Amino acid sequence: MAAAADGISYSRTVRDHIERGIGIPRELYLSQELFAEEMTGIFGRSWLYAGHESQLTGPGQYLTVECGTESAIVARGRDGRLTAFSNVCRHRGARLVDPGCGTKRRFVCPYHQWTYRLDGTLQGAPRMPDSFDPARHPLPTAHVEVWHGLVFVHLGEAAPEPIADLLGTGEELMAAFGIADTKVAHTISYQVEANWKLVWENAQECYHCNVNHPELIKTFDVAGLNATGRLETKTTPSLDPRVVHGRFPLRPGAVSLTLDGRYASRKPLGAFGAGLAPYTASIHLKPTFALVGCPDYAVVLSERPVSVDRTEVRMSWLVHDDAVDGTDYDLDILVKVWNETNQQDWALCERAQLGVRSRSYVPGPLSADETAVVDFYRAYADLLEAEDL
Ligand code: FES
Ligand SMILES: [Fe+2]
Repeated sequence: MAAAADGISYSRTVRDHIERGIGIPRELYLSQELFAEEMTGIFGRSWLYAGHESQLTGPGQYLTVECGTESAIVARGRDGRLTAFSNVCRHRGARLVDPGCGTKRRFVCPYHQWTYRLDGTLQGAPRMPDSFDPARHPLPTAHVEVWHGLVFVHLGEAAPEPIADLLGTGEELMAAFGIADTKVAHTISYQVEANWKLVWENAQECYHCNVNHPELIKTFDVAGLNATGRLETKTTPSLDPRVVHGRFPLRPGAVSLTLDGRYASRKPLGAFGAGLAPYTASIHLKPTFALVGCPDYAVVLSERPVSVDRTEVRMSWLVHDDAVDGTDYDLDILVKVWNETNQQDWALCERAQLGVRSRSYVPGPLSADETAVVDFYRAYADLLEAEDL
């Protein structure tokens, strides 16, 4: 995708600003035209986190995936297979189901009751002529894959790179958390009044952490980030600029990212239940997904643009699938650190959005603690230029 702005491609502008060691121009956060290109060229060709497999155990269980103007349904069929398909009726385009999750025997469009099976094929439509063949009007399908129990959907037409290949370099680090054997304890959806790139940039750096995240820095060792400001990566480095993984350094004595550094859940995850020495780690798939694992719980963060100046960020807290709320963990304690940190981050992103709207904004030099922001700019420029993601 080569998006043109005044004859200069956005990606070339981004690379020029990387070269000069400064942030990207304000137009990139404000342009409606660029946003439309990003939605098709980047988000329309990226794996989107849909939910955890534990939310789709039985036939008819489904959840929706929203991204800008797009919406898809992932459903478990009677044959046990997961299928993803468009949430847009083949008749006159009504959304079939509201955002969220649930269980259906079939999907009946609320408008004129066209009825679809759990795999998105059309079963029937009322009062249509004899010549009408339901088999010719299935819902368009999307790609769906599962990585360690995490369900991803891809809305592109071409067959995408398997999610396991994409995240594979983080396998060694992340497998210990046994994410497939967890369940969703809680999910919060945040509406952030900021362009999605400001939200993602914020997640890349901890230049802002010491002052803004009093709860997080009780256990997260900001100084323990390596000298380049990136997460320390001890596993195979990722060759794909969209993928980042590394250990999350903890302060001495802390074993989990909680207010007091102790476990929030008594049921350890995966290999930690078998005596593996505790560590915390994360993996990011830019620009849609991040997973942070602690020995006792994990969080999944997914980011979806809603409009050029609004982003939905959803966080789900995962605990061992045997853990019982109120017995093994206290939900308030479990969600405290990340919920506080998230709200602090979104306020900062909204503050930045207000600033970049001003004509007086001139991007400033980036610090050594913002190397991962530059990595994000580089990955973003690659995505803008990619023809065949
Ligand atoms: S729009 Fe769905 S049945 Fe008419
Ligand atoms: Fe932050």
